[in-house]
Amino acid sequence: MALEHPVDATQTSAWKALQEHHDKLQHEGISLKRWFAENPDRVPSMTFDLNDLRFDFSKNLVTDETLSLLVQLAKDVHLEERRDAMLAGVHINTTEDRAVLHTALRRPADQVGTVMVDGQDAVADVHEVLSQIYAFAEKVRSGQWKGVTGKKIETVVNIGIGGSDLGPAMAYEALKPYADAGITARFVSNIDPNDIAEKTKGLDPETTMFIIVSKTFTTLETLTNAGEAKAWLLSGLEAQGAIDGSEAQAKEAIAKHFVAVSTALDKVEAFGIDPANAFGFWNWVGGRYSVDSAVGTILAVVLGPERFQDFLAGMHAMDHHFATAPLEQNVPVLMGLMNVWYVDFFKSYSHAVLPYNQYLSRFPAYLQQLTMESNGKSVRWDGTPVTCHTGEVFWGEPGTNGQHAFYQLLHQGTSMIPADFIAFVNTPNPARENGQDVQELFLGNFLAQTKALAFGKTPDEVRAEGTPEEIVPARVFQGNRPTTSIFGVSLTPFALGELIALYEHITFTEGTVWGIDSFDQWGVELGKQLAKQITPALSESDEALAEQDPSTQSLIEFYRENRVW
Ligand code: F6P
Repeated sequence: MALEHPVDATQTSAWKALQEHHDKLQHEGISLKRWFAENPDRVPSMTFDLNDLRFDFSKNLVTDETLSLLVQLAKDVHLEERRDAMLAGVHINTTEDRAVLHTALRRPADQVGTVMVDGQDAVADVHEVLSQIYAFAEKVRSGQWKGVTGKKIETVVNIGIGGSDLGPAMAYEALKPYADAGITARFVSNIDPNDIAEKTKGLDPETTMFIIVSKTFTTLETLTNAGEAKAWLLSGLEAQGAIDGSEAQAKEAIAKHFVAVSTALDKVEAFGIDPANAFGFWNWVGGRYSVDSAVGTILAVVLGPERFQDFLAGMHAMDHHFATAPLEQNVPVLMGLMNVWYVDFFKSYSHAVLPYNQYLSRFPAYLQQLTMESNGKSVRWDGTPVTCHTGEVFWGEPGTNGQHAFYQLLHQGTSMIPADFIAFVNTPNPARENGQDVQELFLGNFLAQTKALAFGKTPDEVRAEGTPEEIVPARVFQGNRPTTSIFGVSLTPFALGELIALYEHITFTEGTVWGIDSFDQWGVELGKQLAKQITPALSESDEALAEQDPSTQSLIEFYRENRVW
């Protein structure tokens, strides 16, 4: 059963022990160099191999004692009970009274019947929709599905925002080497008219398909962009003489060039999309946890059903580990607990995710929604205020680019920023330059950065290089900057699935310690409401203008004075 009231983590004996332990470590002086020297077992005991991924926690500011106290904290807040409740379909999303079952989306078909939610067999429902998606994807990939003029679809444009965009967009970038059907994807999310204008540039309406993705099918950005896409398609086809402007031909064109993904299939129909071309999902899937639902339809089209299945299998493998591994060896649990350690005991309020893989360039942006929309909360799941800091800022950029931009602050700034480094042994694009394997040049940097952050450089080492004394302080590296290394064999659909599920469960672990409902997002509502009130003031409603605060009024006046189109 879901717990009615969260345990206040700060009142547990584990929290108090962690505070004392932290003070003791600070007092003794934290030194990764010393910890490595004193404990030859540190690396093996803090390394975990899961399938094709190696996790090295040894460069974190933790000792064996820290980890066991953190595990005790997880036990004190009943992490395992809440995890099991989530996996079983209990309504742990209390403010929306919903089950939280993204893990059911990747349960294999032989688990049909294992998760009942509100009297429905969730896994059976999932596999029914997956079959529809796979059949659709095969038709588009093979060219059996044709545009209104009989041509094969060459570009699929995903229109969605937040969870209906970030997951598929990130995964498409990540898995581009697997896109093998000659179909490319584009992603429109922003209501800024520049977005759709640029993304439709150069496209031929005859060979373009739009997938309108919205869990609620009420999101202003997505419905506006979908309307614009409809107009773009119909006017383009008309201009080419492909359709004659009659309602019947417009309807046929929309049926051939628009599909939808939503939990609100009635609204899809009202929008003018044939319900036969719509794929459903359920309100027990949060938007930011939905890339593996029908929201990932574009991935099934571009990569093919088999790769999509591999992607789901990777997620399921991580779910299985999360559900069954003892907490002491549970990778997402330990990573979530270490994050709490840094946020609440070291007061490190930001966390970098640094993929050493260009294909993962959108991974940090994806994680920002996953982690910050989930845990950026000040009240707990029973409505009481949180009792400690929650919800660190996640951010990042691929290495090595970041090295030449913000790493200076990571190495020598006054804030300690824990970082996850993610790299893969193999590349689909091997290259040699000047007799040197370029992947090795790249990976050398990945390894060098975590080493520099951990072990630093002492004044004596700097002096030994002949540095003039007055410059020595500027060239010293304190070290003891914590990192986790995640080193994989190759960035496959399976590995990407594992990574996504890993961070989902890290987020859950942190949220549970903090007593947070990580599955609602009430904090996004006020801005939406106010935008509705303010927009009429831009278009000359003096009544709406008069209702605004002086700062908003002054900005609107600036807009009115300067608008030129
Ligand atoms: O406004 C935030 C949010 O509700 C996200 O949680 C969600 O992923 C996004 O908007 C898009 O919502 P929808 O899929 O319903 O269009």
